Amino acid sequence: MSSQAPHPTLLIPGPIEFDDAVLQSMAHYAESHVAPGFVKTFGETLTLVRKLFQSTNPAAQPFVISGSGTLGWDVVASSLVEKGENALVLHTGYFADSFAACLTTYGANATQLKAPIGERPSFEDIEQALKEKTYKIITITHVDTSTGVLSDIKRIAEIVRRVSPNTLVVVDGVCSVGCEEIAFDEWDLDVVLTASQKAIGCPPGLSILMTSGRAIDVFKNRQTPPASYYSSIGNWLPIMQNYENLKPSYFATPPTQLVHALHTTLSQITSRPMAERFAVHTQASDRVKAAVAELGLKQLAAKPENQAHAMTAIWLPEGLAPPDVLPGLLKRGVIFAAGLHKEAATKYIRFGHMGVSVSDPARKDIDNAIAALKEALTEAKQAKGL
Ligand SMILES: Cc1ncc(COP(=O)(O)O)c(C=O)c1O
Repeated sequence: MSSQAPHPTLLIPGPIEFDDAVLQSMAHYAESHVAPGFVKTFGETLTLVRKLFQSTNPAAQPFVISGSGTLGWDVVASSLVEKGENALVLHTGYFADSFAACLTTYGANATQLKAPIGERPSFEDIEQALKEKTYKIITITHVDTSTGVLSDIKRIAEIVRRVSPNTLVVVDGVCSVGCEEIAFDEWDLDVVLTASQKAIGCPPGLSILMTSGRAIDVFKNRQTPPASYYSSIGNWLPIMQNYENLKPSYFATPPTQLVHALHTTLSQITSRPMAERFAVHTQASDRVKAAVAELGLKQLAAKPENQAHAMTAIWLPEGLAPPDVLPGLLKRGVIFAAGLHKEAATKYIRFGHMGVSVSDPARKDIDNAIAALKEALTEAKQAKGL
């Protein structure tokens, strides 16, 4: 039995439902951020982040910083790119536009390689773009939360290493870390940035990054100082290294309660093989996508290889908009999200299926949500005379 107050099940693509133990770990007594107990918790948390990314390379460096996923973009844009340098942004939805805007804010020349809604740029176009210009970084949204499009970051990283080996491979993993396969060292990635509130299953408020030794060297070899104080890798690097070596350190006060929650959820996640976790998400995703097809609905990501495993973006039947369906879902105890892509937001809804909602066998969240979707759609169609 959950100790949480009764509430509708939050099945948006983040934030997500919490495990009781994660919430309870935040009810920790007050402690100093430089006291031995907290230093140990934070240090262990950083080591758990390495496990989350299946990384054993000591040159790779995890960061856990107070802030949301967006802060990861600022860290990359302010620390790894200098004014006037080129960034290639692969566009699979809303979040690439925002990442590009962040890069531009710090003076980068951001070029977007765009695909139609539900699609992703082709490998051939990516290779061609990399041959045309020297890019300091390439950014890939692993799962674009606005469209549910999954990118093949392994294959793209291979192309980059072959065609433009010095280009840093930067992955926005806000909607993929903890649910989609990522082998940080093996795939030779340079940055994966994420946030605490999606498949990691922690409350919002932490920006989490994994960086390669190559990325850290790029920072150290900058010609100009970073144009940000809080998001400069240089200010956080010694702090993260000290905590992991169990030495107290201070640059800016860490959110101690959230670090406890992250420690708890990462301990749970990494107590089982990561492959098992990815498989659980794939199974749940297959179930959702089969149910969506059975209802006669289509996904924004039409091709199976483009489809994320922890969320599904679903086109509504002609004549229905999110406000016609979402209240019916809520009435049945389920919360989905409306569309987000600027060009189509009024035409689709998003179903998040990640974290405890799929990994805890005692929960029936997915079955309940599928049943609720069926009923809410029928009701909405009837109300509109469709
Ligand atoms: C793919 C992606 N990138 C970045 C962000 C921004 O993260 P946050 O809202 O935590 O700042 C989000 C938020 O949903 C996201 O889905």
